[in-house]
Amino acid sequence: MTRIERFNAAPPALDKSQIEAVPDEWDRSGLPAWAYTSEEQLELERAILFRRHWQLAGHVSNAPEPGDYFCFDVAGERAIIVRGKDNQIRAFHNVCRHRGSRVVVNETGTCGSALVCPFHGWSFNLDGTLRTVVQPRAVPKLDPVEHGLVPVEFEVWHGFVFVRFQPGPQPAVADILARHEAEIALYRSSEAEPIGGSFWSQQIGSNWKCVRDVDNEGYHVPMAHPGLQDLYGHTYFDEPWQDGTTRSFASLRDESIRLWSVRAYNNILPEIDYLPESHRRAWLYIGMFPNLVLYFYPDSMGFYQEYPLATCQTVIRSSSYAIPLSDHGDATFNRRIRASQYLSQRIDSDTSAEDVQLTVWSNEAAHSSGFQGFILSDLEYGVKQYHDQLRAVMPVLRQSEPPESGRLESINNKLLGGQQ
Ligand code: FES
Ligand SMILES: [Fe+2]
Repeated sequence: MTRIERFNAAPPALDKSQIEAVPDEWDRSGLPAWAYTSEEQLELERAILFRRHWQLAGHVSNAPEPGDYFCFDVAGERAIIVRGKDNQIRAFHNVCRHRGSRVVVNETGTCGSALVCPFHGWSFNLDGTLRTVVQPRAVPKLDPVEHGLVPVEFEVWHGFVFVRFQPGPQPAVADILARHEAEIALYRSSEAEPIGGSFWSQQIGSNWKCVRDVDNEGYHVPMAHPGLQDLYGHTYFDEPWQDGTTRSFASLRDESIRLWSVRAYNNILPEIDYLPESHRRAWLYIGMFPNLVLYFYPDSMGFYQEYPLATCQTVIRSSSYAIPLSDHGDATFNRRIRASQYLSQRIDSDTSAEDVQLTVWSNEAAHSSGFQGFILSDLEYGVKQYHDQLRAVMPVLRQSEPPESGRLESINNKLLGGQQ
């Protein structure tokens, strides 16, 4: 059976009776093309979305020992998350108080008992306070707290570390994700440790919103993701967005599996005794506005996110975690779980490569004079709901034509004022 035959033979992935959020009539046209190409729009997104909304920086296990740290840069901001001598996680701007250099350069590492700036050598304690300056007689007396590293707001939720560079409209992460709390707690993510290295990232030639557009619907799965289709086929279900989060759930199939990696995964995945029956053979995704997906598989868990470098340049960043093998059963079980992790990551990396291609094509469309907007299906209602959230904080996106040069931000502010 070819991909096209398989796609056409597929029953609808969505039972409309389950999706009361999809009305009979709705605007199926998506965001205007200019939203994907405008430099001014991107600047607005940096200010309104990426600096003022929670961003997942990593997991507590990315800094397991005192002195360990990891970094997260977005929209011109840079954060360092460091574990202190008291074992507490803290977050600071990775900006030296002397002349603003990065205090640590690597994405992850360990710094012993102090963070030493590579520019002139000022050092900071793990709690952020200023420790020493070089040639102190050449520098006025500085207060260690007042002249310490500037804290960044952060929150640890089930082991995941979120940062927010500026105050914004979202409530606490725990409140945003409260409706998923009980389900995510099943996976014991606060006890998890990195697998397959620390962070993985890739730059792609596309606007960041094209990544989200592709990710916000499962309509393309039967056609574009043979691995996922084999893995869970039509059991995949996207729930509507609600209060800034969405949930997708799929159960593993056990028949008609063509790809060896999926067949092997299905055969080898052991029973995880701390998960309920309903989640032992299922893949779960929790999306959080504006740019995060947390995923939970029986064998592993993690996140992926995307953020812009330029209108047509985006970073996709991800990381995977799992409960340490020593917490599991015997050697056979551990071999099976390791193999399952390898296979689920392999299925994921194939899927990701397929999505990158779709994303790049979507981005190209926005630059074409032949592009006349989307015609979204009911199965892509999540794309529209996501765009609604963008339009709520950036109402300028309701304009079909790009605003006059230099006026986008002021028009947006005016529209925001009019909304209140
Ligand atoms: S900029 Fe850090 S010591 Fe000078
Ligand atoms: Fe996809």
